[in-house]
Amino acid sequence: MVDGPLGVLAELTHACPLSCSYCSNPLELTKRSEELSTDEWRRVLDEAADLGVLQSHFSGGEPLLRRDLPDLVRHASGLGMYTNLVTSAIGLSRPRAEALRDAGLDHVQVSIQADEPVLSDRLAGISSFDKKIEAARLVKELGWPLTLNVVLHRQNIDRIAAILDWVEELEADRVELANTQYYGWALRNREALLPSREQLRHAEKVTREARERLRGRTDVIYVIPDYYAEYPKPCMGGWGSRQLVVGPEGNAWPCLSAHELPLPRANVREHDLAWIWRDSPLFSEFRGTDWMPDPCRSCDRREVDLGGCRCQAFQLTGDMYRTDPVCVLSPDRGLIDEAVTAANDPAAVPAGGTASEPVLVPMPAVRPHR
Ligand code: SF4
Ligand code: FES
Repeated sequence: MVDGPLGVLAELTHACPLSCSYCSNPLELTKRSEELSTDEWRRVLDEAADLGVLQSHFSGGEPLLRRDLPDLVRHASGLGMYTNLVTSAIGLSRPRAEALRDAGLDHVQVSIQADEPVLSDRLAGISSFDKKIEAARLVKELGWPLTLNVVLHRQNIDRIAAILDWVEELEADRVELANTQYYGWALRNREALLPSREQLRHAEKVTREARERLRGRTDVIYVIPDYYAEYPKPCMGGWGSRQLVVGPEGNAWPCLSAHELPLPRANVREHDLAWIWRDSPLFSEFRGTDWMPDPCRSCDRREVDLGGCRCQAFQLTGDMYRTDPVCVLSPDRGLIDEAVTAANDPAAVPAGGTASEPVLVPMPAVRPHR
């Protein structure tokens, strides 16, 4: 018998006012007219609660673009779930925030692109820095715990000290400094996003110092980029083992990038969540270790990292059953080393800007929204 998931990530919409070049949305976005209705989402939340889900994360795209967001928060809250809003904060006006508070929203996570408007607005694709700061202040004023999420990459990682100054100024309860994961849009834009080794050394030093300074006030989480690691992470804590993602059109996934894999779909319009989680071929495919080829099959770390990330293996090799190329034991590690060498080449894309000297390199042409 498979244990139920701890959390559900409800991707309410792919629509978003921002156009970040590392977006985790699929390359083919769901149209607004194809999104699940309010009643369908309510049913999904009911089925998630029956499965034992304790946390619902409302995400997107930008979930604030769904007018029924307070209704869905109220419903999840009524089911006894801890509710979290994952937002760019664009659209988090005071009336909207108060409606969400009245609906029982427990937590807000706001994304921050950089520490100053020129770079931040450039990375977000629209003028948004001041609105984000204002919304983060509102979150604290209304008494919510605030998490700031910063996706780190070549263009902003040198600004990490100034970003952490904002974390302190905004009195965030937690900050997630998450190096970009190279799937989907981020993989296509990798050349402009992958930091150099020197940039990472600097960021790690600054983060260590900030962790000391902010101890007892802010949890500082730093997610290392796996391209610079020796072994992969156990992606999502294991395929189909802790989290469940439901996309805007009702497709359920074990992770944010599985939509790219050549596996059968499982849609909440056709099946209930319990069948999808426990019995669907999609969620069963990579559970446990039986599916593994060598070198994972005979490796003593196979229960530790579970062979790494299936999406990364597929996106880099075209074969979702291969060992994650990040692993030093993988026959495909050369694919990672090549990208790392290019990122450390002095002739590589210059690293991103400073407050007085904004990024000179245009972000790549491939952009998810607009
Ligand atoms: Fe993990 Fe497989 Fe590498 Fe072993 S060979 S460390 S199980 S990814
Ligand atoms: Fe899909 Fe890692 S992101 S398994």
